[in-house]
Amino acid sequence: MRVLSGIQPTGRFHWGNYFGAIRQYIALQDEAEESFYFIANLHALTTIRDREELWNCTYEAAVELLALGLNPEKATLFIQSDVPEISELCWLLMTGVPMGMLERAVSYKDKKARGVTADAGLFTYPVLQAADILGYDADTVPVGEDQVQHIEMCRDIAGSFNHQFGEVFSLPKAYVVKGVGRVPGTDGEKMSKSYGNTIAVMEDPGPLKKMIMRLPTDSRPMEDPKDPETCNLYLLYRLFASPEQLEEMAAMYRAGGFGYGEVKKRLAALAVDYFAEARERYHQLLANPDHVRQIFADGAARARKKVGEVLLRAQLACGLKKN
Ligand code: ADP
Ligand code: TRP
Repeated sequence: MRVLSGIQPTGRFHWGNYFGAIRQYIALQDEAEESFYFIANLHALTTIRDREELWNCTYEAAVELLALGLNPEKATLFIQSDVPEISELCWLLMTGVPMGMLERAVSYKDKKARGVTADAGLFTYPVLQAADILGYDADTVPVGEDQVQHIEMCRDIAGSFNHQFGEVFSLPKAYVVKGVGRVPGTDGEKMSKSYGNTIAVMEDPGPLKKMIMRLPTDSRPMEDPKDPETCNLYLLYRLFASPEQLEEMAAMYRAGGFGYGEVKKRLAALAVDYFAEARERYHQLLANPDHVRQIFADGAARARKKVGEVLLRAQLACGLKKN
């Protein structure tokens, strides 16, 4: 198995990112023969237009992945823009991509529907993502459900290139994480940076507890039995609880006679504990920028070596180079 995934550095990672995506990426590093993970700063450039913000978010995202367990001895971690060959491969692929395919891309359609004026970067976003994947001969791409369409597009783009120029690219598959579903935010909607309802993975215990104690709940009387599955607090508790703890909590809901304050306290205790080690590693890494930069440099060197081989194969196949 050759695993690859990228994640946009659009702010501190939140529980949705972790349980919906990052946890699974990191687990795959143990199973894969080879795995590549990168911070998609070229993709982020389509939305972040501030120099400090883009760099800080990129750096922070990489440090968080390391703190959360991504092991640079097992997996290759790098910054997308440190591998310029990808941009070259992207152009090569772009010459064969129908406009109609890109017009159907959710990344573009959604933003357009929200009134964002699209530029060429946003419009061609899926082609850059295809280059990211094909450049590493990846066969397994762990992503959240919202990214599946982009992986399908990548397969189409690779298929039509292969059809025209010979078997250059291997076709990847999306590896969609099951069981977590969508993590609700502090307001019960999908947790998302765009909705301002996130809880950051690296939140310090003090503010984290306060945030949890402030989560809104309904005003049904304490005595009433409740359906746990419809309660946002319970859905968040489920992310951290063991099966036994969850069963106990569900029974408490069904029996009624408890206050939401109790659920919040238990949720806060589990959440603080769950990320305690990661938080410690995170602060250690932040205090060691040279070490972090070295990890980026080593990752980029390994990544460039691989992409260089694939790019050459593609260039030979379409006549940009000759043996
Ligand atoms: P956001 O919606 O906050 O901008 P992104 O779109 O950058 O988050 O998501 C990065 C990854 O995290 C994606 O693979 C996505 O599927 C996953 N993800 C984001 N929010 C959630 C959520 N609330 N529940 C489950 N997975 C999520
Ligand atoms: N578009 C992805 C997202 O927003 C990030 C990404 C960029 C990616 N290139 C990729 C994901 C390649 C998987 C494979 O989450």
